[in-house]
Amino acid sequence: MQINSPQANAAVSPDKSEMLKENQFRVNEVPPGAALLVGEAAVFNVAGSFCATQAKCPHRQGPLSEGGLDGSTVTCPWHGSQFNVCTGAVLRGPAVDALKTYAVVVEGEIGRVEGV
Ligand code: FES
Repeated sequence: MQINSPQANAAVSPDKSEMLKENQFRVNEVPPGAALLVGEAAVFNVAGSFCATQAKCPHRQGPLSEGGLDGSTVTCPWHGSQFNVCTGAVLRGPAVDALKTYAVVVEGEIGRVEGV
């Protein structure tokens, strides 16, 4: 039995403040007009408010967090479908199905996507 083993201490997370769960992100990494992939969701900063949707476009699974964001409208980088990232509504095809949307809770520096 080892007591006060330096190795055992080192095995404990070296810096817990750096650990984020899969559904969490740092608020300062998503400035207004930006997007970030957070687990299975894409988080968008729409003029200072966060909206989150499913990460993949319902048309052919394009990466929505890599699309351009203009106000609350994201354009899928693959075939140009457009969606409102806060309501999930399709604004332009070829996509037909709306996006799933998720609530985002911000506590201090950390944001959390709920219900993914
Ligand atoms: S995959 Fe998004 S528009 Fe085709």
